[in-house]
Amino acid sequence: MSQQPILKVRDLYRTYEIKGGLFRPASTLTAVKGVNFDVERGTTLAVVGESGCGKSTLARMLTMIDAQSSGTIEVDGLPIDISKTGISKDMRQKVQIVFQNPYGSLNPRQKIGHVLEEPLLLNTNMPAAERRDLALDMLQKVGLQPEHYGRYPHMFSGGQRQRIAIARAIMMKPKLLVLDEPVSALDLSVQAQILNLLKDLQDEMGLTYVFISHDLSVVRYLADKVMVMYFGEVVEYGTRDEVFGNPQHSYTKTLFAATPNADVESIRKRIAAKNAA
Ligand SMILES: Nc1ncnc2c1ncn2[C@@H]1O[C@H](COP(=O)(O)OP(=O)(O)OP(=O)(O)O)[C@@H](O)[C@H]1O
Ligand SMILES: [Mg+2]
Repeated sequence: MSQQPILKVRDLYRTYEIKGGLFRPASTLTAVKGVNFDVERGTTLAVVGESGCGKSTLARMLTMIDAQSSGTIEVDGLPIDISKTGISKDMRQKVQIVFQNPYGSLNPRQKIGHVLEEPLLLNTNMPAAERRDLALDMLQKVGLQPEHYGRYPHMFSGGQRQRIAIARAIMMKPKLLVLDEPVSALDLSVQAQILNLLKDLQDEMGLTYVFISHDLSVVRYLADKVMVMYFGEVVEYGTRDEVFGNPQHSYTKTLFAATPNADVESIRKRIAAKNAA
């Protein structure tokens, strides 16, 4: 087994050309500025930072939705650059994304079974019966029921829809899952359930996560390594204990000071106590 990281990012930039207006000259906005990091197999890198610091821009480059302006991204040892080369199906399957609002990415007219089987239909020659079995299997893995197979997205709660989005993302057994604020739109108790699900799936399938969040309690619960971004730059990168235990950068210190200490464990205990009462 090779020991190379699953994801290797070097000197990555993304700029946007901003059109001028009546009183504003055209300009260039650099959303991601020379970012470097590695993600080891089976681990979670959390990416934190305030709104607009470039997290989703980074996510779109990692998942081959958007091209980098310069710099390199290697997935499983192979470079990806969608502006220069076509990306093979194989490569696309290796990296999947889960968004904050899964409703936007689920077709309202498609039954859940179809949602889950679509990647198999598009990418494999698997017979229908086998696809169905895999989809049913996956429903169970993410904590849903076989009877959900024939239902439509609007028939689910937000938490359940996020389970469906996660299930769809892992149907093709990706190497890397990029999660862009996957629990930010959910109630705290549902957040905890989804985070537990992600942990279980990681253990079971050896998945690697890039987990984007502005919520430090979530990050503390899930991350092996933490990367803090500030105006497109990485200002802090280290193990969770390093970054939480001894934040170096002044931005990180402010960020940590501003965050109420609501960790998932204590939330779960509170909910358990309430249910017991
Ligand atoms: N397509 C685009 N064209 C022009 N500017 C863009 C585009 N996409 C993002 N930006 C700008 O790039 C910067 C980074 O945006 P990005 O969406 O990556 O931030 P973010 O960290 O994900 O923020 P949030 O936490 O609010 O989701 C912002 O200033 C944003 O306005
Ligand atoms: Mg974003």
